[in-house]
Amino acid sequence: MPERGQLIVFEGIDGTGKSTQCRKMEEYLIGKRVPVVRLREPTDGVWGQKIREILSEGRGDVSREEELSWFLEDRREDVEKNILPALNDNKVVLLDRYYYSTAAYQGALGLDSDSILRDNIEFAPIPDRAYIFIAPPEQCLKRIESSRDGYSSFEKLEYLVKVQEIFNSFQGVHIKKINSNSTIEDIHAQLCGDINELTGI
Ligand code: TYD
Repeated sequence: MPERGQLIVFEGIDGTGKSTQCRKMEEYLIGKRVPVVRLREPTDGVWGQKIREILSEGRGDVSREEELSWFLEDRREDVEKNILPALNDNKVVLLDRYYYSTAAYQGALGLDSDSILRDNIEFAPIPDRAYIFIAPPEQCLKRIESSRDGYSSFEKLEYLVKVQEIFNSFQGVHIKKINSNSTIEDIHAQLCGDINELTGI
């Protein structure tokens, strides 16, 4: 294992199966006795709670700039309190959503996704691996519908199509697009292979 832990993030629109894969990866690494921490954003902190309010009750008169600033504050806290300490402790950090979500979701509201990424990189560590899950938005909405009571204000088809387009546009050596068409087990096996290579376990 390298000196510092590794940051692995799971990104994509709701209903792509990223959270399931994130949990399965945690089980896999625990089974391999690799020290691991699983986190999610928005967090359960003060800013995360404010965010969850607009998720369930709608954006109301919260401007998109204000919404963006809440996600950034939430992340700042997560980086300082959870992510950096775990990485410095040589742990693998599995993170369900990170700054690619901000660039894609708040970018799809009309804000500039490139400058959102730049602002984040100033304080948030670049992940060692970012899995971006891609699946047809119609199918994702159906999955959300069957697993929950109702949609949040972030789950309208037209909006999710735009969000996914932005997710799909991200490129980089640490970014891997995961086509969610295969089975949960096949995708898990694919990710385990990649993580084995990345972490040297
Ligand atoms: P989600 O992972 O769906 O949480 P939960 O499973 O508890 O519902 O995240 C909630 C929503 O927040 C999701 O629709 C995406 C959105 N989001 C942003 O718009 N920007 C961000 O920076 C992040 C992290 C999430």
